[in-house]
Amino acid sequence: MHDTANAASRPMPPTPNGLDAIYGPIGDQLVRCEEILRKELRSGDPLVNQLVEHAFRLGGKRLRPALVLLAAEAAGEITGEHLVLAAVVEMIHTATLVHDDVLDDAAIRRHVETVNFRWGNQTSVLLGDYLFTHAFHLASTLETTFACRMIGRATNRVCEGELRQTDTQGKLSLTESEYLEIVEAKTAELCACACRLGSHYAGATGDVEDRLARYGRNLGIAFQIIDDLLDLEGDEATIGKSLGTDLAQRKPTLPLVRLWEVSDESRRRELATIMGRSGNHRREALEVWFASSDALDYARQKAAAYAQQARVELAPLVPSAARTALARLTEFVVQRRH
Ligand code: IPE
Ligand code: IPE
Ligand code: MG
Ligand code: MG
Repeated sequence: MHDTANAASRPMPPTPNGLDAIYGPIGDQLVRCEEILRKELRSGDPLVNQLVEHAFRLGGKRLRPALVLLAAEAAGEITGEHLVLAAVVEMIHTATLVHDDVLDDAAIRRHVETVNFRWGNQTSVLLGDYLFTHAFHLASTLETTFACRMIGRATNRVCEGELRQTDTQGKLSLTESEYLEIVEAKTAELCACACRLGSHYAGATGDVEDRLARYGRNLGIAFQIIDDLLDLEGDEATIGKSLGTDLAQRKPTLPLVRLWEVSDESRRRELATIMGRSGNHRREALEVWFASSDALDYARQKAAAYAQQARVELAPLVPSAARTALARLTEFVVQRRH
């Protein structure tokens, strides 16, 4: 059961220390991005204001805006356009979270109750739409249509990934490559897009832009694999969102995909029975299975390999504080507990 009353009354943690240090070179610009978000999302309607404020409560890592800004700084200089783009990608990301929490029937997000838990699914669907449309409206104020085109394409792919994932519910025979395709679409695409936009609007060459987009893609895959591990073994109070929802929704993620892969027929039948049971005691029931297999380590190593791939993309870039920060992010995503 989700302990929503306690979670709502817990003190709000600041942006995790490790991230504050990594974001050092773009600290001021992140503050300005927050100001744009606050100003842009102010509405004449008090309910809309309340909902938007709630969805943007503290606790979000602001990873995608940071990627826009760091990619810009690594490839050239941050401009006013980047600040707008940083706000746009955070709006898109938050919209996907508001909708994702409906899909996953989640109760906690960013250390507070989800919009669906407090206001219901109808409100969540509409608030997500409000954030998506606001993001595109804001992106359309930029000189060129490049940002709208890239963000439209990336958001499309995020939706494809989430749609494909709904089709995997209960499908224990999901292959690793099918899993990775979903992760690439639902999570890595927006990270790649953030890096592409940052570098493009800083006047980077096509080569550098593609390189930073590949960095974002690999980082995003590593990030989601670790997120899936945290869903199994993380601590809700630390991470500030509902965990165990992947198993509750019978979504096979990499550890389970691996467990299935290395199990013989009789163990697969047992696994299928556990996953098929009603109620949600799967996380507890599978603990011993994970403890006696390499599945969790396997997933962790996969994440580390993608993070390493991301780092490789940075090597030819001119050394800078931003490039160092991007490299440190590749370490953060695999070590994070939140
Ligand atoms: C959550 O993203 C959704 C995933 C892609 C796993 P974050 O973990 O970046 O969420 P916030 O923005 O910090 O709340
Ligand atoms: C969803 O993945 C990622 C999105 C693109 C929204 P998850 O369902 O694992 O994200 P969390 O764990 O709810 O943040
Ligand atoms: Mg979810
Ligand atoms: Mg998750």
